[in-house]
Amino acid sequence: MKKNPKDYLILALDVDTMDEAKTLVRELKDYVAEFKVGLQLYTSVGPDVFKMIHDEGSRVFFDGKFHDIPNTVAKAGANLVQKGVNIFTVHIKGGSKMISTTVKLARETAKRLEVERPKILGVSILTSFGQRTLTEEIKVNLNIDDYALELSKIAKDSGLDGVLSASSDVASIKQACGEDFICICPAARPTWSVVNDQVRVITPGNAVKAGFDRIIIGRPITSSPDKAQAAQLILDEIEASLLMQDEERFI
Ligand code: C5P
Repeated sequence: MKKNPKDYLILALDVDTMDEAKTLVRELKDYVAEFKVGLQLYTSVGPDVFKMIHDEGSRVFFDGKFHDIPNTVAKAGANLVQKGVNIFTVHIKGGSKMISTTVKLARETAKRLEVERPKILGVSILTSFGQRTLTEEIKVNLNIDDYALELSKIAKDSGLDGVLSASSDVASIKQACGEDFICICPAARPTWSVVNDQVRVITPGNAVKAGFDRIIIGRPITSSPDKAQAAQLILDEIEASLLMQDEERFI
């Protein structure tokens, strides 16, 4: 087996208060690789949440999904290097100049501070988007998976470490951008949970089987009456999928 199931799981801390976030981190830190701080929590409690997660001995994924002019995004990225986050995100639609400027400044800042540079990942198309929204509202006439692939190639060429990507496109992204290009699935849904506002979902087991390096899960765990049990069920599903892959390799 290549990895511990826990290394695959990122928990989305989509809550409003530090107390709620701390309770989740304390209860679930043994089940997940990283805690993802998104706009909901960050706009409520600010960067103190990074310190809280670090103090609990865990790692931070800041999902700020930056999309602004190159200088602004690069300076924000440099601030995140100083705050010791492990991963942060930008919108690939911000363009290659925005991305490459951000990667360069993050690298220089990490070198100056003698710390590890965070992984910088690109968001291609939100998983709450389907083909209809893309075509009729945004007026993009490409097939949604082809569009995600084109954006992923821009991400790779501009220096990003990987992408957040939906269900059906991971194999083609890995093929085009290389096996080491990190693919994270932000819309994993176990069969026993509700889909909420996500559109293109995949089960944790199938996400691992499809080749995703990590999966992000929020509400299926955080809305569960027994959160640790929900997390364990997901880890069991990931483990079963990894074992099945190992067995297939030996056949
Ligand atoms: O609660 P749920 O499992 O739907 O949480 C998914 C998380 O992944 C949310 O925090 C959301 O902001 C994030 N995300 C997403 N789609 C993307 C990128 C991030 O749903 N393309």
